Amino acid sequence: MSHFNVKKLKHIAVLTSGGDAPGMNAAIRAVVRTGIYHKLQVTAVIHGYQGLLDKEYKPLDLGSVSNIIQRGGTIIKTGRCKDFYHATGRTKAAKNFKAAGFDALVAIGGDGTFTGAQALWKEHTIPIIGVPGTIDNDVYGTDFTIGFDTAVNTGVEAIDKIRDTAASHDRLFIVEVMGRNSGHIALEVGLACGAEEVFIPENKVSIKHVLSIINRGIKRGKRSSLLICAEGDKPGQAYEFAKEIKKQSRFDAKVCILGHIQRGGSPTAKDRNLASRLGAAAVDFIRSGQCAVMAGEKDLKIVAVPLKDTFTKKKRINEDWLRLESILSI
Ligand code: F6P
Repeated sequence: MSHFNVKKLKHIAVLTSGGDAPGMNAAIRAVVRTGIYHKLQVTAVIHGYQGLLDKEYKPLDLGSVSNIIQRGGTIIKTGRCKDFYHATGRTKAAKNFKAAGFDALVAIGGDGTFTGAQALWKEHTIPIIGVPGTIDNDVYGTDFTIGFDTAVNTGVEAIDKIRDTAASHDRLFIVEVMGRNSGHIALEVGLACGAEEVFIPENKVSIKHVLSIINRGIKRGKRSSLLICAEGDKPGQAYEFAKEIKKQSRFDAKVCILGHIQRGGSPTAKDRNLASRLGAAAVDFIRSGQCAVMAGEKDLKIVAVPLKDTFTKKKRINEDWLRLESILSI
């Protein structure tokens, strides 16, 4: 575990980076309020790592984070910073960070954010704590990431509506959900919606297999079917599955891509509370001199996970859930 000297700790910076996720605001609030509670100054770096390059800062006081716990998105903006992929960009960011008088940084985001954070620590000894904020839930070392629960619930709500049409018209629907290269959202949504099958990168299934499941259902009287597809490395691939299904059967599958609707909206209570706990834990870690770790949650307990592990190790899909999903869809 890495440590830094906390004797001179006075001023922490906080940023959000990567795709926005519901609950990021609750995490910012927790960082600010916990920091101020412990007599620390807190400043936001606006627009993620880009804000360090552009020196875009905003001091945050207690009132500046009032009335945001229920809001989706991030009040301090976010982004994906291309310059940060290069050592020269990180050197400039580190120089600006030190010149601004920041002593430590809380970076709220996903694996890309943590890759940058680890580099900033390794190359410039900037003390950083990560907080997992992404709808994808693909960060190793934490059971859940902030925003995942809300995204799943948003997906379920939308698919319940689609089911009405599927049932009324006796139709087959393929609904594509987000998640980049991981199938966590798709699997959780699929189980909650009673889908016939889920297409996820971690468990590839053939069209032949999917058709056998649909036909089995029809034989026992099912009139409509639902398939959930993770976007994987090819957003929009649900259309390709639909085309292939049409080629190999008589089914004319309707496609619905949920897209960014899953990233927005008011966070669920679960996400707000996860964000509040992890945001506060990040400040506690800093105060104890820990750095280059992510504040995560394992079996409902706060854990410190080495930042490097969060993006070099792969978070596995829940095999039990996958098995259950297929048992319950008979
Ligand atoms: O990482 C969150 C996420 O929403 C992914 O699920 C998705 O693949 C990606 O971001 C989309 O990114 P953008 O909003 O930049 O198109």
